Amino acid sequence: MNGAHTDAVLFETALLDRHRQHRTARVTLRLRSDEDVVGLRKQVRERAVAIALSLVDQTKLVTAASELARNTIKYGGGGEVYLDSLDDGIRKGIGLLFVDAGPGIPDIDTALRDGFTTGGGLGLGLGGSKRLADEFDIESRPGEGTAVLVVKWKR
Ligand SMILES: Nc1ncnc2c1ncn2[C@@H]1O[C@H](COP(=O)(O)OP(=O)(O)OP(=O)(O)O)[C@@H](O)[C@H]1O
Ligand SMILES: [Mg+2]
Repeated sequence: MNGAHTDAVLFETALLDRHRQHRTARVTLRLRSDEDVVGLRKQVRERAVAIALSLVDQTKLVTAASELARNTIKYGGGGEVYLDSLDDGIRKGIGLLFVDAGPGIPDIDTALRDGFTTGGGLGLGLGGSKRLADEFDIESRPGEGTAVLVVKWKR
């Protein structure tokens, strides 16, 4: 079923309920391997096309999805992504929530800074994803895990 599964929540985060009243669908995908990232990119692109996001916005959302999925796998030890279809009555949107049960991010402001990396990367993934999204939020507790939310609305 394309990686969909129904494991228990990895990290209890209030971000799971963000936009709950405007959510029309939620799908959960496992994130363990590069293959899972490819599958996620495809699903995000399909949903972005379905709500008629501009080509630029499609690419922004797919790029943010890739960066955050790679972080979930590399730093979080794998996890899940919730793909949400949103409709607030005026506009449609797509929400992506990445959740892992890894070590957590001790200092989120530092982690968001361009060039900060603990894994020999470029340190551009988190800050870049924030800039590419319309809404961005992180919740993390050391020793419990990390959740990162991005939302893109059709303008
Ligand atoms: N899910 C996560 N769990 C724990 N730490 C994380 C997680 N995501 C990011 N981090 C921390 O935040 C840092 C910055 O992440 P960011 O994606 O910006 O850069 P990077 O992954 O190191 O490099 P790049 O994404 O540019 O290849 C990471 O190096 C890591 O220390
Ligand atoms: Mg990264």
